Amino acid sequence: MRKKIIAGNWKMNKTIPEAIALVKELKALAGGETAVDVVVVPPFTALYPVAQELKGTSIGVGAQNLFWKASGAYTSQIAPGFLVDAGAQYVLIGHSETRGRFGVAEPDFDDDVLRLFGESDSTVNRKAKAALAAGLIPIVCIGETLAERKAGTTDAVVSGQTERALAGIPAADAAKIIFAYEPVWAIGTGEVCGADEADRVCGVVRASVAKLFGAGTAEAVRIQYGGSMKPDNAKELLSKPNIDGGLIGGASLKAKDFVAIIAAGR
Ligand code: PGA
Repeated sequence: MRKKIIAGNWKMNKTIPEAIALVKELKALAGGETAVDVVVVPPFTALYPVAQELKGTSIGVGAQNLFWKASGAYTSQIAPGFLVDAGAQYVLIGHSETRGRFGVAEPDFDDDVLRLFGESDSTVNRKAKAALAAGLIPIVCIGETLAERKAGTTDAVVSGQTERALAGIPAADAAKIIFAYEPVWAIGTGEVCGADEADRVCGVVRASVAKLFGAGTAEAVRIQYGGSMKPDNAKELLSKPNIDGGLIGGASLKAKDFVAIIAAGR
């Protein structure tokens, strides 16, 4: 049985005082949660104070990105060791908001701030390796755009992203990686992917892992669904056999909603 993992991706939200207020609430409501793994993913600036606040609880802490080098002349970048130093155990890699052609808005979006940060399958792979080497658990995000779904290429896109993320990673390390299937068109739009379809695509991800590493590793790997998961749809999504948790954006910013999703995962 894979333990479910519910992670709250706060994106570019919460000052330090706001972050502390939110984790204090979470601590009170879910600080002793053991039936599912719970992780919060604050912005970099709040990472250390949030990790300090959560010491002694069962709630884990993740960062939203990292760079693959250990140190050096890489202005603006954050090394894997810095995240460990700040108290993180997890790190998001390849979120759809950081993937894409550098500086080019994707035609799917009205909002031109999406997919501007140039993350590619190859940088995702480097970051996953660097995270694992530093002892961090990567949460690797994958998912098709609306144009890719309409073109009928969802399965090819998702399996390609999965396989390229895993290139050169040994099986023992691959089993530690968490995948988050996040159809890009469902993120922050209120447009949730149907539970059966989300489960089916998570199955495609698992099959890609099986192809590279065999059934044992594929059965061990946890695959989250992300994209407009809310208290009212979480139960159905989280009851599906291939969905091992959720990566929650908007609904993770309110303790009550996030805790309701945690409860749905028990
Ligand atoms: P959302 O974001 O829950 O607000 O759709 C999910 C994500 O981007 O991880």
